[in-house]
Amino acid sequence: MPLTFTLDPAVTPELRDGLLDLWADVSNAGGAVGFVPPVAREDIRPSLLKHFAAMAEGDVRLLVGRDEEGRVAATAFLTRNTHRLMTHWVWLYTVMVHPRHQGKGYGRDLLAAAADAARGLEGIEAIRLTCRGGLGLERFYESCGYKEVGRIPGAIRVAPDDDRDDVIMLLPLR
Ligand SMILES: CC(C)(COP(=O)(O)OP(=O)(O)OC[C@H]1O[C@@H](n2cnc3c(N)ncnc32)[C@H](O)[C@@H]1OP(=O)(O)O)[C@@H](O)C(=O)NCCC(=O)NCCS
Repeated sequence: MPLTFTLDPAVTPELRDGLLDLWADVSNAGGAVGFVPPVAREDIRPSLLKHFAAMAEGDVRLLVGRDEEGRVAATAFLTRNTHRLMTHWVWLYTVMVHPRHQGKGYGRDLLAAAADAARGLEGIEAIRLTCRGGLGLERFYESCGYKEVGRIPGAIRVAPDDDRDDVIMLLPLR
């Protein structure tokens, strides 16, 4: 069963808790979404609340995928730039699919839904994102049409002796 995607769903306590569970479960399974395991929901809550505040300002759009049982199963945030010369593309952040659902094509569906959402935004011509090197994620994004356009060596320190590249990926929308 494919996921059902919604752009900008109402922010309810159920959605907030579903996002916190998703983010924590993905992080604790080793996902590259800003944290390293072990992480608790309460460690993640401030980051999520920052996203909610930016959503209320209109700079961030939330894309949520739910499984057939209605659980929050995938998400991504589309963020507009505040720089006046960079308003023609958006950032994509926090791309994640719940570990129980990974490897079923849902990640690709999520990025297709994100591209559709970005195309629906006035004046947006590209999606840019960064990913952590060393996990094969470049291959995932390439399978979704993105191209690697830059790489900052060792910019991400996941542990004292474990630096990873910060890889910049781009999807032109036209
Ligand atoms: C990365 C992620 C979103 C991919 O979602 P998914 O549902 O597992 O991916 P899909 O099943 O849609 O896979 C699409 C393609 O990408 C490949 N792929 C998926 N994850 C990959 C990975 N980590 N490394 C290399 N290739 C990967 C798949 O093999 C598939 O290729 P194929 O069609 O040639 O078989 C998901 O694994 C995830 O949430 N990971 C943890 C969080 C994370 O690290 N997010 C990235 C933030 S930059």
